[in-house]
Amino acid sequence: MLSEINAANIDAAACCYLARLGVEDLEELGPLEERTSLTFWGADSYRRFLEEIPGYFGAKAVVLPDGGAVRLAGFYLARAVDGDLELLKLGVLPEFQRLGIGTRLMDACRAEGTRRCCTRCLLEVRKSNQRAIQFYRAHGFGISGTRANYYSNPVEDAWVMERDL
Ligand SMILES: CC(C)(COP(=O)(O)OP(=O)(O)OC[C@H]1O[C@@H](n2cnc3c(N)ncnc32)[C@H](O)[C@@H]1OP(=O)(O)O)[C@@H](O)C(=O)NCCC(=O)NCCS
Repeated sequence: MLSEINAANIDAAACCYLARLGVEDLEELGPLEERTSLTFWGADSYRRFLEEIPGYFGAKAVVLPDGGAVRLAGFYLARAVDGDLELLKLGVLPEFQRLGIGTRLMDACRAEGTRRCCTRCLLEVRKSNQRAIQFYRAHGFGISGTRANYYSNPVEDAWVMERDL
C-alpha cells in the first residue's frame, strides 16, 4: 500500500510540467544537485552555459504538490555539438524518483537534440551508478566506451553510453 507521503508525491508528479532551465533556477539547482549526488559546477559556469553559449540548453521539471509550494523536482543540462547531443546532467530529487519524471526530461532532451539536427546522444556515467545505468539502458542506451579516472571526489572511471536519435 502506498504511504501518504508517496501518494502525495505521485499527485505532485502528475501535476508536473517542464520548462526551460534558466539562471533564475540556479538557487535551487545547487541543493538539488547535492541531493542527487551530482556536482554543482558553480553559478558563474551555469550562467555562461545558459545565457552565453548557444549550444547549451536545459529543462527543469516543476511539481505542484496539492496545497504545497511549487518545487523544482529535476532537471537536465545538455549541449549540441557537431551533430552530437551530449547529456551533461540529469537528476531527479529522491522523493520524486521512479515516477516517470526522469523519462519526461530524457524525452524532452532527445526531442530538442533532434530539433537541433543531432543524430546521436552520448553521456558519461560513473561505473558504480547502477541506478542511472539501468535508467539509460531502459532508454535505449548501450555502453560504447570507457574513460579512465573521469570523475573526482571520489576518483572513478566512467562508462560512455550512447544511442541513435
Ligand atoms: C537516473 C534518474 C534521473 C532516473 O530518474 P527517475 O525519475 O527516477 O526515472 P523514471 O521514473 O523515469 O524511470 C524510468 C525507468 O528507468 C529505470 N530505472 C529508474 N530508476 C531505477 C532504479 N533505481 N533501479 C532500476 N531501474 C531504474 C526503470 O526501468 C524505470 O521504469 P519503471 O519505474 O517503470 O521500472 C534518477 O535516479 C536520479 O536522479 N539519480 C541521481 C542522479 C544521477 O545519477 N543522474 C545520472 C548521472 S549520469
